[in-house]
Amino acid sequence: MIEFEVNGKSVTTNSDPETPLLWVIRDELKLKGTKFGCGIAMCGACTVHLDGTAIRSCTAPVSIAAGRSVTTIEGLASDAGQALQKAWVAEQVPQCGYCQSGQIMQAADLLSTNPQPNDDDITQAMNGNLCRCMAYARIRKAIKTAAIAGEA
Ligand code: FES
Ligand code: FES
Repeated sequence: MIEFEVNGKSVTTNSDPETPLLWVIRDELKLKGTKFGCGIAMCGACTVHLDGTAIRSCTAPVSIAAGRSVTTIEGLASDAGQALQKAWVAEQVPQCGYCQSGQIMQAADLLSTNPQPNDDDITQAMNGNLCRCMAYARIRKAIKTAAIAGEA
């Protein structure tokens, strides 16, 4: 049995330790905000936080979470996370929406370590989060909006 925390609540799983964390999050815990895209850590749709750092849950075995804290989009309550979610609405970022929880989780990791990122910082941090709807300009704008809000 593997014990860990998800969005502040203690959870357990009897899944094989090599099971991708994503499947435990979606199929066992029924938290469907985290998406499956590529399954090979190449698109970012499955991004969650492990002890506050963005990881790709499609390739991370659930055993990596033992005794640690996972945050999904449903539980993203940090100041940066709140500012980003407001900015995402204000800037009307999503098109189909499929990539968006991963985008926000990645952006929250960026702002938690770098509250005032420049364009290069944003490009570098968000490089692995793909959007088939090409919402990249709005994503960048929303990150900047959230950064300004965090400054106030
Ligand atoms: S589904 Fe995990 S990176 Fe694409
Ligand atoms: S909004 Fe459709 S994939 Fe990004």
